[in-house]
Amino acid sequence: MALDKYTYTYLPAHPEVWSLSTIVVDEEKCTGCGNCVQACPCACLEVVGKKARMIEGIVCMGCSACVAHCEKDAIQMRGFYNVEKGLFRTVHLHPDDGYPKIPEVEGIEGLTPVEEVIYKRRSNRIFSQKPVPDELVRRVVEAGRFAPSHGNCQPWSFIIVNDREEMDKIADMMDPLYRYLTRFYFSGKTNPIVRGLLSVTSALLPPLMDQRAMTGGTAILKPKDVFLGAPCLIYLLGDKRGINNMYVDIGICGQNMVLAAHSLGLVTCWMSFAAVGAKMLPHLKRYLGIKWPYVPVTAIVLGYPRVKADSMVKRELPRIVWRKGGKTWQEMP
Ligand SMILES: Cc1cc2nc3c(=O)[nH]c(=O)nc-3n(C[C@H](O)[C@H](O)[C@H](O)COP(=O)(O)O)c2cc1C
Ligand code: SF4
Ligand code: SF4
Repeated sequence: MALDKYTYTYLPAHPEVWSLSTIVVDEEKCTGCGNCVQACPCACLEVVGKKARMIEGIVCMGCSACVAHCEKDAIQMRGFYNVEKGLFRTVHLHPDDGYPKIPEVEGIEGLTPVEEVIYKRRSNRIFSQKPVPDELVRRVVEAGRFAPSHGNCQPWSFIIVNDREEMDKIADMMDPLYRYLTRFYFSGKTNPIVRGLLSVTSALLPPLMDQRAMTGGTAILKPKDVFLGAPCLIYLLGDKRGINNMYVDIGICGQNMVLAAHSLGLVTCWMSFAAVGAKMLPHLKRYLGIKWPYVPVTAIVLGYPRVKADSMVKRELPRIVWRKGGKTWQEMP
């Protein structure tokens, strides 16, 4: 097991160790509208003969965005992304449905309004161009300001780009980076030198080298819009001097903002691609005016939906170990 992290580190060259979730399309209901194609963060889908279908061999991350964005209830997801061996081993044991199962608790009936937003919030990937008033954006950021933080250090700062032309400039600056990174990554399938290099890099930096993220990278290249047509982008910056683990604080702050936004009738999509670009490209970092002690951690796009995606979808079961009354047990199927 300890040696696992040195095996199957470059997955595109080893399709024999991974399997994907599958998409089942009800052809009676499918109108070929293409919403699922537009919403898929991995560009796994296409419409042929007015029916949606999966493109062979592209990594599906099992997010159910296609299901959530289908207004005709014509598409379902089955199974999960599984890797059987090696560094990226991920085996999702799962009963068939995977929808939330809400335990019945005495004195609590149904979902609370907060739970409702939590379960139904989806990453929206089809935005309307309708602008968001500055006051509403401010209200969303305000929910982030009241997030808890280590030692109350409040290590956040924000860049609000509530201007589509500015967002287009940022997207143009990032496009060559993603084009280069994803081409390089997938060239390892055929080039043994690149594969060797990527295998070593993966073993050292697995979070950066997961093939699902790289597939996502190919899906945002122009003429697609990395910002999904949204009218507003908010960068979340973190103070490098933040107590203990500033990244946890920024995550909580962002989720406060996202939940507040959805409760206000807005929709969002987290957008770390924007932060990676700002981190890796010095000219973009300068353009945005990001200076020490702040670093770009992540970003969120927000706006109004052209297609409403907020709904419940399938998720993995949590890996929970219970310890109580001297007994220990695992909650797994
Ligand atoms: C910190 C973070 C960064 C993300 N960055 C991106 C991104 O750059 N682009 C994108 O399309 N989705 C991004 N996502 C959205 C995830 O793909 C999405 O949350 C996941 O597939 C689950 O789908 P859901 O949000 O509908 O539950 C990000 C999510 C998180 C939490
Ligand atoms: S979104 Fe639904 S109806 Fe539209 S193409 Fe996809 S599966 Fe068909
Ligand atoms: S589950 Fe997600 S990644 Fe897979 S096809 Fe649907 S939208 Fe694409």
